[in-house]
Amino acid sequence: MAANENKNLEGDYERFIARYPEYAKTTAVDHLRSTDYRRLDEQEQVYLDFTGGSLYAESQLEQHLALLRSGVFGNPHSTNPTSTAATELIEHTRKSVLSYFGASADDYILVFTPNASGGLKLIGESFPFTSGSRLLLAFDNHNSVNGMREFARAKGATLAYAPLLAPSLRLDMGLLDAHLNQADPAFENLFAYPAQSNFSGVKHPLDLVDRAQDKGWRVLLDAAAYAPTNRLSLTVVRPDFITVSFYKMFGYPTGVGALLIRRSTFPKLSRPWFGGGTVDFASVQGQAHVLSRNEAAFEDGTLNYLSIPAVEIGLRHIQAIGIDLISERVRCLTGWMLDELLALRHGNGHPMVRVYGPTTTEARGGTLTLNLYDPQGHLLDYRRVEELAGKKGISLRSGCFCNPGVGEIAEGLTEDDMRAALALGSEVNLRTFARLMENRGHKSAGAIRASVGLVSNFADIWRLLQFVADFRDQTSLAIGAVTFDIESCRIIRDGS
Ligand SMILES: Cc1ncc(COP(=O)(O)O)c(C=O)c1O
Repeated sequence: MAANENKNLEGDYERFIARYPEYAKTTAVDHLRSTDYRRLDEQEQVYLDFTGGSLYAESQLEQHLALLRSGVFGNPHSTNPTSTAATELIEHTRKSVLSYFGASADDYILVFTPNASGGLKLIGESFPFTSGSRLLLAFDNHNSVNGMREFARAKGATLAYAPLLAPSLRLDMGLLDAHLNQADPAFENLFAYPAQSNFSGVKHPLDLVDRAQDKGWRVLLDAAAYAPTNRLSLTVVRPDFITVSFYKMFGYPTGVGALLIRRSTFPKLSRPWFGGGTVDFASVQGQAHVLSRNEAAFEDGTLNYLSIPAVEIGLRHIQAIGIDLISERVRCLTGWMLDELLALRHGNGHPMVRVYGPTTTEARGGTLTLNLYDPQGHLLDYRRVEELAGKKGISLRSGCFCNPGVGEIAEGLTEDDMRAALALGSEVNLRTFARLMENRGHKSAGAIRASVGLVSNFADIWRLLQFVADFRDQTSLAIGAVTFDIESCRIIRDGS
C-alpha cells in the first residue's frame, strides 16, 4: 500500500475508533487474522461475503488433518473398531453442537444434514400438514424456506406470507399478529422465519417464537444467517425446529449442517420414505419398515463421518474467540460502513448509495444490501459493480441472494411486475427479469451485498469505501458493460 494511502487509512481509523471505541476491545481478532488467516492479507483479498460463507482458520484444518491422520475411521453403520471410532466422534460432535446452542439432549434432537436447506426440506416433507393446517412464512425468507410451501400446498394446507414494512424491511407486527391469530390449534400449523435476514441483515425478534407457539403454531427458526455472529441460546427461545449450516459459522467443513428438533414435537413428524440408516427394521417380503425413533430416522444414508468431527473443531474455534466479541466487532464495522456509505455524495449533492433496510446497527447484523446510482439517480448495474470490485480483490455478492420476497419489497416490485415476469414462462430468469423490470419504470431487480464476519477488519471496510467512492460522478457509460450474467444464481460468463 502506498505511503499516502496508508496515512489516509490511519487517519480514518482514528475517526472510526472515536465513534466506535468498543472495537478496540476486539484486537485479539487482529492477531488471529495475522496468523490463522494470514492468507487473506498475503493475497490482498478483501472478503466481504461472510453471509455467503465464513472463512476457516488454518488451525482448524491442521487439527482436522491431525485427527484424521491419527485414527482409522470406517463407515459408522457397524460395530467394528473403525466404525465405532467414527461413531464416537459423531456422537461427541452431536453433544458439542447441542451444548453450543445451550440445548439439553432431553429437550432437543440434533440431526446432521448436508446444509441448512437439507434440514428445511426434511421439515417440509415430514410436517403433518392437512387441509386444516396453515403455513405462515415471512416475506424475508430464503428460498429454501419458501420451498416448504410446495409440501404444504400438496397436502392442502393454507399458505400465507407475513409482510414486511418498507423501508425498514422489518416484519409488520400488526399484520403478523393477525395471521398468527388465524391458526386453529386443532390442526398442525407452522410458522417459519429467519432470525436474521440474509438480505437486509434485519434481526427479526426472537420472542416471536413464544408468541406464535402460544397461539397454536409450531415454529421453525432459520438461524443460518444469525448463528455465525450471534449467540443463540435455546434456554431462552425454544423453537420447534432450528436450521444452520456450519460453513456459514466457521468456514469449514462445507457439506454439514444441523437441524435441531424439539423432542416434544419430534413424534408429530412423519417421514415420507425410509433409507439406509433410518430404520430399525425393514423387510422386502413383509414390505414394511420400522423407522428409528431418534435422529437416525432423519439421517439418510451414510453421514459425512469424516467431516462431522471438524464441526467440533470449528465450534471450539469460535468459542475461543467468543461469539459476543465477534458480535461486537461486527456491529462496529457495520455501523461505520453504513455511516460512510450513506454519506457518499456525487458532485451535484445527490446520494451515491441506497442501502436497503435499517440504516443503523439497531437490531441488525453485518449484512448490507445496496445499489449504486449515477449523479442523475439512475441505477448502476450491480453486476458491473461486483465485477469491478473483483478486479480490486474485493469479494462482494450480487443478485437476489435466494431471498426474492424481501427483494421485491425493498426494490418496490409489485404483484403486477411479478405476474408480467411469470408470463415469460420458462424464459424467466434473473437476466430476463432484470431487463423486464428496467423496462417497467427503471426498477432494479437485484442488488449488491457486502457482509462482514468473524475476521473482518477495518482495512476491509476502508478498501470497500474507497472502491465505492470511485463511482463519484460516474455514469453507466463510463463504468462500462458487465461481461457476465447471472441465471438462477449461477454465473454465466460471455461465451460460456
Ligand atoms: C437465512 C438463510 N437460510 C438458509 C440458507 C441456506 O443455506 P445453505 O445454502 O447452506 O443450505 C441461507 C444461505 O445463504 C441463508 O442465508
